[in-house]
Amino acid sequence: MNSDTLLQELGIQDVNAGCYAAGWVSCGGERLESRAPATGERIASIQQATEAEYEQTLRTSLEAYHRWRMVPAPQRGEIVRQIGNELRRYKEPLGRLVSLEMGKILTEGLGEVQEMIDIADFAVGLSRQLYGLSMHSERPRHRMYEQWHPLGPVGVITAFNFPVAVWAWNAMLAAVCGDTLIWKPSLKTPLTAIATQNIVDKVMDSHGFKGVFNLVIGTDAEIGSRLINDRRVPLISATGSCRMGRIVGDAVSRRLARSLLELGGNNAVTVLNDADLDMALRAIVFGAVGTAGQRCTTTRRLNLQREIAGPLTEKLLRAYGSVRIGDPLEPSTLMGPLIDEDAVRGFEHALDQARAEGGEVLVGGKRIDRPGHFVEPTIVKAHRGMKVWREETFAPILYVFEVDSLEEAIALNNEVDQGLSSSIFTQNMLSAETFLSHEGSDCGIANVNIGTSGAEIGGAFGGEKDTGGGREAGSDAWKAYMRRQTNTLNWGRALPLAQGVSFDLGDS
Ligand code: UN1
Repeated sequence: MNSDTLLQELGIQDVNAGCYAAGWVSCGGERLESRAPATGERIASIQQATEAEYEQTLRTSLEAYHRWRMVPAPQRGEIVRQIGNELRRYKEPLGRLVSLEMGKILTEGLGEVQEMIDIADFAVGLSRQLYGLSMHSERPRHRMYEQWHPLGPVGVITAFNFPVAVWAWNAMLAAVCGDTLIWKPSLKTPLTAIATQNIVDKVMDSHGFKGVFNLVIGTDAEIGSRLINDRRVPLISATGSCRMGRIVGDAVSRRLARSLLELGGNNAVTVLNDADLDMALRAIVFGAVGTAGQRCTTTRRLNLQREIAGPLTEKLLRAYGSVRIGDPLEPSTLMGPLIDEDAVRGFEHALDQARAEGGEVLVGGKRIDRPGHFVEPTIVKAHRGMKVWREETFAPILYVFEVDSLEEAIALNNEVDQGLSSSIFTQNMLSAETFLSHEGSDCGIANVNIGTSGAEIGGAFGGEKDTGGGREAGSDAWKAYMRRQTNTLNWGRALPLAQGVSFDLGDS
């Protein structure tokens, strides 16, 4: 399928506006070109939004919110169910577009759309389970309970690496919770956002709720800073770098609103002497090389116990040598390109620093001489005195350390500023449980005999420390999208006060 047919199938041919506010709005901003990272060729261009279109989107989302919140949650869930079905219908073309525009291999592009479908299904069930607790009051004939109410328009800022799935984590939950959405996608992947909006639009239009999901494509200066500083938006959910997260977190906390931050990761796999090495090998290569090292859950560090360090490194070097690099849409490819030239420069810069600090490049280390932004998957033998491995470089660079004990591995796992994902390979139950305990990994995600990436939507996703503390997707992450109200109701004829306080007005 050529890219024109693909764009046509996803309705992008007809839309070149970077703003959707209950319908496509023509925009006054600069043109933005989307280029395929595998070739550098232009796919399509769109017109970016300006302040005027932002304002229109905000007003639309507020107006829609006042109607949407009155729809019973299970009925909102029914509409989300239909969105899930529509995503099933468009899984193939949307997955292809993700691959084309972002550069991840096709199976991962399709997997990303599957993640959208999964969270839609989860949200449908959730729409009947927005439970609050009830409590026993200390006062006679009193009832206490809590309710969860919709919050308002939610701002969702997404990154290029999961251009549509992370939006869906937020959007599907927020929608069943009764909120409306203002989506600001990455400027590196505007077309996948437009295609997603078109898919959702059909369903929302058929129910008269076009203003629930909205989209504004524009720069940080024009759109991003307006969104994060807007007092009408009670929650900003943002995915991206720690640097970006600090700007968002600062702005949102200054107006005392809520932010949900999912920022950088610097994730380590620990392999102990008793591990199944073949299993560890497959998980490490997928974690480090998959998505060309551009997931926040990518495996960036390896802590190998001394006895197996040599043999496992040998296996890794062999496996790295056989990774097929190339066109992400070609089914046999295992690793596609980086997103752009900045990313290639970041890769080269990190490796210059690694070498200068005494790291030894064991395999890879260079950009690949062909059109597009391709680099070699790289392994660096590292030591604790180096600084470069403490930073998250969004590229396929894996730093390898040798450790003597589980305790040393845990200390090294926790030594970085970020706290997203972590994993251990061991057959020993005591080591596994120690790694998962409060003495173990300090990350939001800790796995045993599974790599650091590729989480399912059913669990809460996010991390500690500089990763920002937010939790998205499954478990009780929905609570971030609602406001909690505690209610106390007196069904007696007296007015007893809590804590035994007496306040006698006499006969007055
Ligand atoms: C991200 O990189 O921002 O766990 C999200 C994973 C994916 C999500 C990654 N399910 O690797």
